[in-house]
Amino acid sequence: MAKVSRIEIYEKLDRIIIPEANVSLVKYKGIRGLEIDKDGNVDIRIEVPKQAEGKTDKIKKDVENAIKTVENVKSVNVTVSVNEKPYGTVEFKNLIPQVKFPILIGSGKGGVGKSTVSTNLAIALSRHGYKVGLLDADFYGPSIPMMFGIKKEPVVNEKEKLIPIEKHGVSVMSLGFLLEDDTPVIWRGPLLMKALNQFLEDVEWGNLDFLLIDLPPGTGDIQISLAQNVKVKGAIAVTTPQDVALLDVKKAISMFEKLNIPVMGVVENMSYFVCHNCGTKHYIFSGNEMDTGDKLGVPVLGRIPIDTSIREGGDRGLPVVVAYPDSDVSRAFMDTAKIIAGKSGL
Ligand SMILES: Nc1ncnc2c1ncn2[C@@H]1O[C@H](COP(=O)(O)OP(=O)(O)OP(=O)(O)O)[C@@H](O)[C@H]1O
Ligand SMILES: [Mg+2]
Repeated sequence: MAKVSRIEIYEKLDRIIIPEANVSLVKYKGIRGLEIDKDGNVDIRIEVPKQAEGKTDKIKKDVENAIKTVENVKSVNVTVSVNEKPYGTVEFKNLIPQVKFPILIGSGKGGVGKSTVSTNLAIALSRHGYKVGLLDADFYGPSIPMMFGIKKEPVVNEKEKLIPIEKHGVSVMSLGFLLEDDTPVIWRGPLLMKALNQFLEDVEWGNLDFLLIDLPPGTGDIQISLAQNVKVKGAIAVTTPQDVALLDVKKAISMFEKLNIPVMGVVENMSYFVCHNCGTKHYIFSGNEMDTGDKLGVPVLGRIPIDTSIREGGDRGLPVVVAYPDSDVSRAFMDTAKIIAGKSGL
């Protein structure tokens, strides 16, 4: 059975304007739960502001009709509830108010190097003098603990908040710290969102300039939940320079745009390989330097080479920017971090 696209549902709902409040359902952040089973049965909970109190039947019908037009949808069940407060009076929830500039790091495809890029960029930003945190939001396969070489569990302070672990100048938090090795996390949509929000709220980040949020691959619940509960200032897409990867990262970029998150640009990872013997640049995936930015319509923030030191650093828990700070590879990360910092205005 082909899958129903969440993003397509969001796109359709973005076109529904809540009567009297003049705001789209998505922008109002009125989607409170969206479950899709494997047969294409959609169950959705919507919340509308006080202004639309008398219009819930119409909204319900509109939502139903809109979702029915999405490919592979078999049935739609809509529940509408009304918020006591009118639109315009509710400040949008921000679970991490102490962070000046939260950035989502996403990709379409898995394994393109999001976690590697997040790890090294976080350290590079801190080297540029910023206060930086890194949140591993890949609940299904947290890899940040290994990349940072962190084995200990975070402690809880007197306010019962988790204290991030400081390493290489970065405050790091990952669900992986709290899981036993090899424990699979098999949460589904709503439970996962709850866990993520709880997790965000329960961490004492302190005052940070940047919080990099390493996402799982794709365009799912975690991305959407974060966009609704954190004032995300920017998103960075990571891709390898191959047409197949670009197709996927395009979807990730369009999801960020749909969620009103400004896309800062793309980091091209495994861009090229520099031969250690002759110094020649080889463009392994693309043949020659690729116009990734043009193809995606967003700026290229940096190009990171493919290099054994990067993989080894990740496996050893000693990221390349720490292990070989003067290498060309580290310089690529430092330059990329500088561009990102420049774009943030901090
Ligand atoms: N530029 C690079 N040069 C060499 N190896 C790299 C590079 N970037 C990433 N790798 C290696 O590729 C593998 C996948 O990288 P990583 O885990 O960062 O990808 P990811 O996009 O986070 O994956 P997932 O989708 O599973 O979260 C790791 O073993 C990492 O060390
Ligand atoms: Mg990862």
